[in-house]
Amino acid sequence: MDIQKNVSLKPYNTFGVDAVARQLVHIKKEEDLSHLYAAEILTRDNLLLLGGGSNILFVNDFEGLVIHMAIGGIDYCINGTDVVVRAGGGVVWNDLVNYCVNKGFGGIENLSLIPGTVGAAPVQNIGAYGVELQDIFLSCRGFDLATGEIKTFYKEDCAFDYRDSIFKGVLKGKIIITEVNLSLSTESKLNTTYGAISAELHNRGIVSPTIKEVSEVVSAIRVSKLPDPSMIGNSGSFFKNPVISVDRFRVLLSNFVDIVSYPFGDNKIKLAAGWLIEQCGWKGRVVGNTGTWKNQALVLVNHGNATGLEVYDFSEEIIKSVKNKFDVVLEREVNVVL
Ligand code: EPU
Repeated sequence: MDIQKNVSLKPYNTFGVDAVARQLVHIKKEEDLSHLYAAEILTRDNLLLLGGGSNILFVNDFEGLVIHMAIGGIDYCINGTDVVVRAGGGVVWNDLVNYCVNKGFGGIENLSLIPGTVGAAPVQNIGAYGVELQDIFLSCRGFDLATGEIKTFYKEDCAFDYRDSIFKGVLKGKIIITEVNLSLSTESKLNTTYGAISAELHNRGIVSPTIKEVSEVVSAIRVSKLPDPSMIGNSGSFFKNPVISVDRFRVLLSNFVDIVSYPFGDNKIKLAAGWLIEQCGWKGRVVGNTGTWKNQALVLVNHGNATGLEVYDFSEEIIKSVKNKFDVVLEREVNVVL
């Protein structure tokens, strides 16, 4: 295992920002972590775990050690209609989705084409089109940086919430997820209630879709709305959809009758951040080397040579204008490395 020095992080973040890591190491198996631990390399303060780099913005060079999760491998076991699929933390999430969809293992199809790696999926409880990772999550294995032990985390241990988990909370920076186990089924019930999915199925004349057809429809919707990071740097939704109280929502609704919202748990409302940003006039705007995506204002993009700082400053502008117009504070969904 080689620790590389002064490595450009440009190929390792989907925003395509050119920051430098003072050191970088690729982890290909759990034992690699044990070796680094034994050599007292993991006891340092300045560590950063990187998966697919699809949810991160480097504002500066990183003056520590970047641990690049590259553990591969997918396998499964079947019991009747139940399937448990195991994947290494460094597996590309969509490769896992395709693997499962092609084998007819359902439950994961709505999460097609989400960028990033398997190990990162539980951290922010990835979700799309009415499904979240927690709906199919069984357990994960994680390397404890403090003790050097591998621990198993079951669903109830993970404190999953909207784009949130214990790995973003009290365990932030303490656990490296090395493997994820999902609970899928060969007879899963398809979730096609999300408006865009049912509309696209209808367009295609599909009445009783297969798992594969739902996956294809979800992928097509994503491609039509979201920029392809290999063509134009971005990290998906830059902000979370803000959650506010019903009382606050009533006030907003009286001033903005078209506001896009969804019920969220008891007494809470989730607002579509893309709508708020669009209403502030930002949709499709190009600002220097950055801007928002023409089809989805919630996605910030790199038009070429944007620095992390430029994107960060632009996101501050957006936060300010949404606060001024709606008195709602947007929270970033991407991890900002300052
Ligand atoms: N909208 C606008 N203008 C915009 C964008 C959106 O008015 O520029 C309104 C529209 O009314 C639209 C609604 O907002 O119907 C919702 O938009 P969309 O369906 O694109 O979903 P989203 O709430 O913006 C969330 C996730 C996405 C996920 C989609 C689909 C978050 C922060 N984002 O976006 O996840 O793909 O739902 O389920 O929850 C990601 O996390 O990186 C991501 C892409």
